Amino acid sequence: MQKNYVSNIIKLNKSHIRSLITIDFESEHQGDRERNISKSEIRKGIEKRFKKNYEVFFGYKQNNELVGYVTLKPFFPGHKHCEVYWLAVKKKCQGKGTGTKLMNFIEDYAKKKGFRKVCLYTGKDMCLTRRFYEKNGYSFINEFPDYYGYTSGNTTAVLYGKRI
Ligand SMILES: CC(C)(COP(=O)(O)OP(=O)(O)OC[C@H]1O[C@@H](n2cnc3c(N)ncnc32)[C@H](O)[C@@H]1OP(=O)(O)O)[C@@H](O)C(=O)NCCC(=O)NCCS
Repeated sequence: MQKNYVSNIIKLNKSHIRSLITIDFESEHQGDRERNISKSEIRKGIEKRFKKNYEVFFGYKQNNELVGYVTLKPFFPGHKHCEVYWLAVKKKCQGKGTGTKLMNFIEDYAKKKGFRKVCLYTGKDMCLTRRFYEKNGYSFINEFPDYYGYTSGNTTAVLYGKRI
């Protein structure tokens, strides 16, 4: 049976880049705020990812507004592993279950594609985000100092995984 939130989720393409920039900016990502990331830097990053053409993007629509999105890279080291590369929800909509719905959706999607494990990286010091993933069944695997290579802020990543 289809889960009732699925009708709010749409596949995204290049025409949604402007909305994605707004979501990223308004999600108040802890690492981006610490490094003072501008909208034009966000735009460059998103455009680059679309150009690579392997990451799939899904957005959550609420009253005709895209309020969050999740992306999947259909590969990761390990047998039938894949990676949730990006997840963001606008600040005004956080804490209301949207992030969880996007994760449930992408896990179902990955499972249908034949994957058996979803992996993801996040910042070591992003406590709220780490708690979010742990509540969604993700287990800590390892940490990687200097993973992001930033010149400021916390540059250590933590890797999480979940069997699906
Ligand atoms: C992480 C994020 C996607 C979660 O989405 P969400 O819609 O707020 O998540 P949900 O409502 O489904 O789940 C809420 C749980 O997530 C955690 N959480 C993380 N950030 C939160 C926030 N800003 N507000 C409320 N809860 C948050 C809490 O543990 C919360 O559980 P609780 O309600 O029992 O306290 C969202 O907070 C976000 O976009 N954060 C900034 C960007 C980011 O960190 N992206 C991930 C990068 S790897």
